[in-house]
Amino acid sequence: MLKRTHTCNDLRTADDGSTVVLAGWVNTYREHSKALVFIDLRDRRGLTQIVFDVAESPAAIVEIAQGLRREDVIAIRGIVRVRGGGANPKLDTGEIEVLATELEVLNKAETPPILPDDQEAEKMGEEVRLRNRYIDLRRPKMQGILETRSKIAQFTRAYFHQRDFLEIETPLLIKSTPEGARDFVVPSRLEAGAWYALPQSPQLFKQILMIAGCDRYIQIPKCLRDEDPRADRQAEFTQIDLEMSFIDQEDVLDTMGEFAVELWKETLGVDVGEIPRMTWHESMETYGIDRPDLRFGLEISDISDLAAKTDFKVFHAALEKTSPMGSGVVKAFRVPGGAAKLTRKLTDGYSDWIKTFGAGGVPTTKCTGDGFESGVGRFVEPIAAELIERLGCEAGDTVFFTADTWEVATKAIGELRIKVGRDLDLIDKSAWKFVWVVDFPMFELDEANNRWVALHHPFTAPKPGQEGLLETDPGHCISAGYDLVVNGSEIGGGSIRIHQPKVQQKVFDLIGLSPEEADAKFGFLLRALKHGAPPHGGIAFGLDRLVMHIVGTDNIRDVIAFPKTQSGADLMIEAPSQIDDAQLAELHVRSTLPAPTA
Ligand code: AMO
Repeated sequence: MLKRTHTCNDLRTADDGSTVVLAGWVNTYREHSKALVFIDLRDRRGLTQIVFDVAESPAAIVEIAQGLRREDVIAIRGIVRVRGGGANPKLDTGEIEVLATELEVLNKAETPPILPDDQEAEKMGEEVRLRNRYIDLRRPKMQGILETRSKIAQFTRAYFHQRDFLEIETPLLIKSTPEGARDFVVPSRLEAGAWYALPQSPQLFKQILMIAGCDRYIQIPKCLRDEDPRADRQAEFTQIDLEMSFIDQEDVLDTMGEFAVELWKETLGVDVGEIPRMTWHESMETYGIDRPDLRFGLEISDISDLAAKTDFKVFHAALEKTSPMGSGVVKAFRVPGGAAKLTRKLTDGYSDWIKTFGAGGVPTTKCTGDGFESGVGRFVEPIAAELIERLGCEAGDTVFFTADTWEVATKAIGELRIKVGRDLDLIDKSAWKFVWVVDFPMFELDEANNRWVALHHPFTAPKPGQEGLLETDPGHCISAGYDLVVNGSEIGGGSIRIHQPKVQQKVFDLIGLSPEEADAKFGFLLRALKHGAPPHGGIAFGLDRLVMHIVGTDNIRDVIAFPKTQSGADLMIEAPSQIDDAQLAELHVRSTLPAPTA
């Protein structure tokens, strides 16, 4: 085989006259006459034009070149020359070409079902691209993403190795670690009837590594969660996972905040500045969500006190509701100049759309300057002046309200804020708005089962000083949990952990695990905590989500080499697939599905 001397993006006019060997894929093929064939040869670095000219190349290879087609794999030896017919400004190598003197066809390719072309790919269905991922990944955009992802992983490792973190691998075949999703499970062949769970995260192992004295741990692990995929969620994804001993929340936020800032500088050349903090409560009250998008305004206000002074039944019905968060509420935000920008069709649509979030509708009105327009405006007449002052309304603004339990009204208006922001194109797409969300509640109430559910995970410690509330008022206990949010997307989450067995037992108790159940599921952790557990805490960033932000895509499948579809399938390898009865029997598993009919 001809031995490659350069890549397809190396050669420039300074190489004029040198003999080189290039190898790659036939990107395009142009035959000017039987005597003159042009090929753009491609590898992951770029393209180089190769010329087969019967006047100067051996006739035998010109003839073979005539039979070349797109995606054939070839190697050529040739002489670099400055292009006679003028440069191609679209190519980095556009000022030169290589006159072929030898040609080796390394492999012929069948007519490709898709072409590795970015523009073509945008027009094609994603299914066909995923089915033929080996070709899809050849296109420049995907190669660029793979390269960026690799650089981020490399940067991350170097960053933490320099800061004395140990990279330690944790196992894949484990016992369930609850992160709020379903487990993927694997049957044991050696222990009939027993199952492994695949890790939703390395959470408990990294805590145990702290108890084992490792002090600072990092890993870039695969995590597996059997949940429905979304635009930013895959069942199989990657984390940048860390844990540290003898630290507090400030240390984790500083370490990871600095890492994020440096990563943005390194990859995008952007200084995102100091990362601000916001409490969970403020985030929920002002943005209606725990991952606020701070690239636009439309801040939300609670106007329950004003709503109580009106005769509006919708408001009163809401205020009379109760929920674990207390009495019902009325919330509102104003859209500056909304009267002119929001069409009737848009605002009418919101009333139906908001029902997906459990709200009854979106009372809407427009500000006239010193009052509000008819309709809902009539009801807010008695509070017009106060409402205008509370929201900072001006003539021409639209005001949206939600009225329900705190949970429903908050979520619904938070979603509406985002929708209006998008519909009116209010989001500054060039901005990077990072924020640490801190001071989450420890628990939320699962009303159906009347038990507490850990908001982060049940290994999260109460914030210092809050421990007593575990006994007296768990619903008001604030945790030492934190999330890092970028432009409304959660890219990381973590917490200071419980390191005292008694506190851990108490939390298990609150989430409804009996001592026996706790012992069966997490006995190993409780035992380890009794053997000298240092105070510790950590965090995990979603690597896929970081790459999504950095390369600028809103589809997580773009940043994963071999992603799963919406229905959890890998279309290229055709997984999941059936296994035969013998394999099932060996695993002591029997299917409950009806036998296939002949
Ligand atoms: P958490 O569950 O918040 O925390 O996950 C940490 C980060 O991982 C990313 N992430 C995902 N990315 C893609 N697809 C998914 N299905 C998915 N799920 C999560 C998010 C998220 O912020 N063990 C804890 C971390 C800790 O406490 O240290 C954990 O896994 O960016």
